[in-house]
Amino acid sequence: MEVRRARSGEILAGLTPVSHYFGSVPAEDTVQRFARVLPPERMHVAEEDGKIVGGASAFEFQFTVPGAIVPAAGVTIVGVLPTHRRRGILTQLMRAQLDDIRERGEPVACLWASEETIYGRYGYGMSALCGDIEILRVYGGFRRPPEHGGVFRLLSHEEALEVIPPVWARVAAETPGMFARPREWWQARALHDSEGRRDGAGEMMRVVLERDGEALAYALYRVKMDFESGSSTGEVRVLEALGVSPEATAGIWRYLLDVDWLDRHPSTPVRRHLERFELDGRRVYLLNRGSLVNLAAGLGIGAPQLFDPFAAIMLLGLDAILSGQTADLPNGVQRYPRPLEARVARALATGSV
Ligand SMILES: CC(C)(COP(=O)(O)OP(=O)(O)OC[C@H]1O[C@@H](n2cnc3c(N)ncnc32)[C@H](O)[C@@H]1OP(=O)(O)O)[C@@H](O)C(=O)NCCC(=O)NCCS
Repeated sequence: MEVRRARSGEILAGLTPVSHYFGSVPAEDTVQRFARVLPPERMHVAEEDGKIVGGASAFEFQFTVPGAIVPAAGVTIVGVLPTHRRRGILTQLMRAQLDDIRERGEPVACLWASEETIYGRYGYGMSALCGDIEILRVYGGFRRPPEHGGVFRLLSHEEALEVIPPVWARVAAETPGMFARPREWWQARALHDSEGRRDGAGEMMRVVLERDGEALAYALYRVKMDFESGSSTGEVRVLEALGVSPEATAGIWRYLLDVDWLDRHPSTPVRRHLERFELDGRRVYLLNRGSLVNLAAGLGIGAPQLFDPFAAIMLLGLDAILSGQTADLPNGVQRYPRPLEARVARALATGSV
């Protein structure tokens, strides 16, 4: 087993071990794009019997830390083939890579761990958390509208390449953990709209917020349209949304939250056969998928979740029998008395018995 720097032309071989876990051999296009932002000497490979079975690479970042911008290694493409796992190959790759980073004088090595249990043993520690947020439009109101004074413009890929990078550069320069993106990075990565990343959504949209011709904020997003029972239930998937000021950031998020025709209403299962929808501050309770609707029930005593229609039907029926109201009914199966049925329905609709 030999761990060494990759040679030119070995990017495909070095990508192959981790690609195994994505379910395919990397496409030629993927290899070309990596080659634009990853010099082969920043890739380490593990070779056995002439075959590359593991790899670890590092992008060259200009990385913002509190008070400075420093060169940094952006660790990526880490993988060992399943046929060679748990023999210490990753450990050897990490050793070689960290030695290399040190020799280059890069004070920081950073990575985005998909599996956080792996890297602690090699000296990495957690510096930030990330998470996905799903915001339903009905909850997307702001306390006050942002006053950015700008206008929004959708951009072509070519326009985005010119207009968006300065916004990123301004934000990245003063935000620890962000790094400078050279033009190749924008072309090969950030603005590259690969099919494989769409996950059922549409193509990448690019929008900028400008004031007097100056770009203040931008967003990259995809629209995923869906319909359920004839109503649109689609979503906007935000890839990036950045602004140079709080007002500009709020502005771009206002834009994203206001994209029309993508309403999804939050429904909370209250219990079996009972769902609660929140609509513009009002609660709507749907019983049995809409066979009965209660538009205005509150949460207190008598609210639908406390109201049991089946118990009510039985109790009202028993009451009717015991109080002699059904004395003149003949023997046999009878229709439930309409006035009692109406009482139950009224109680459900108003939330009070
Ligand atoms: C993660 C991976 C690179 C590990 O490679 P490896 O050559 O099997 O690792 P090593 O044999 O050098 O393991 C070194 C140590 O790390 C531990 N380790 C390895 N992978 C681990 C994992 N996924 N979770 C927790 N511990 C792990 C090993 O148990 C071993 O511990 P030990 O020294 O106490 O015995 C390999 O399993 C892989 O390619 N996984 C899929 C791709 C992947 O997860 N890439 C990283 C994305 S962030």
